[in-house]
Amino acid sequence: MANNLLKGKRGIIFGALDENSIAWKTALKVKEEGGSFTLTNAPIAMRLGTINQLAAACGAEVIPADATSEADLNNLFSKSMEVLGGKLDFVLHSIGMSPNIRKGKEYGDMNYDWYLKTIDISALSFHKVLQTSEKLDAMNEWGSVVALSYIAAQRAYPDYTDMAQAKAMLESIARSYGQRYGSMKKVRVNTISQSPTKTTAGIGISGFDVFFDFAQMMSPLGNATAEDCASYCVAMFSDYTRMVTMQNLMHDGGFSASGITKELVERLSK
Ligand SMILES: NC(=O)c1ccc[n+]([C@@H]2O[C@H](COP(=O)([O-])OP(=O)(O)OC[C@H]3O[C@@H](n4cnc5c(N)ncnc54)[C@H](O)[C@@H]3O)[C@@H](O)[C@H]2O)c1
Repeated sequence: MANNLLKGKRGIIFGALDENSIAWKTALKVKEEGGSFTLTNAPIAMRLGTINQLAAACGAEVIPADATSEADLNNLFSKSMEVLGGKLDFVLHSIGMSPNIRKGKEYGDMNYDWYLKTIDISALSFHKVLQTSEKLDAMNEWGSVVALSYIAAQRAYPDYTDMAQAKAMLESIARSYGQRYGSMKKVRVNTISQSPTKTTAGIGISGFDVFFDFAQMMSPLGNATAEDCASYCVAMFSDYTRMVTMQNLMHDGGFSASGITKELVERLSK
């Protein structure tokens, strides 16, 4: 059901690791809608994942970049403009990693070097992406930058540990940079707060299956899938959302507005 919504638009898509990644599905959908883009990921993730298959399917160039490195980002934005033949209209930041979660650390036993790494990779990198883009004047007017967040920015989830702070900071950066970039160059900056999704980052969180099922029961529409999220990203990159900026957009089938649902009441009263 492609509508050429992104015809003539150019961009960068961060974070496609494998075919389950939200960024992977987004790349396919952006391509379908007529957009062109470069793909990027951290050098180590590119060795572990299958990004080259996606690049071949999309006719996209892969430019490695560790999103915490200003030098890598500088190279990525400069090369992307070169390869794509002009300034950019959209950027997807689909990056998250917590060494503390990876190593199964409890919230009362955080390793603070890793905590800082979580913040650097999962939140500060978003500021670095935006600042690099501003300094290189890499975005066209009315361009759209989106990062992916999770409701643990607003509510406590025991096993999400330091990623909760990273997501709160990510959303805050979208507001602050959105204000600056909007008044400066009409560039839009938003976060999409996505339902639990079965990806490498998702299933790495202990208890994931339980809160996936819980969210499913608490969402009148059910959990939003990675494909659904990809469609929302396309909408946010399109001209149909020109006046949306500095927002954290809930994309969760109604989860965030539900107190309790009939399904859960029935389940718990058995
Ligand atoms: N899966 C979920 O349940 C869920 C829910 C809400 C939000 N999100 C968010 O969606 C985004 C994408 O995650 P996903 O679920 O598609 O999982 P994913 O594991 O497929 O993607 C995470 C990506 O981050 C990349 N990354 C890690 N360190 C990096 C670095 N230093 N530089 C550049 N890239 C780096 C990884 O290589 C990987 O491609 C993340 O921000 C995640 O927090 C996921």
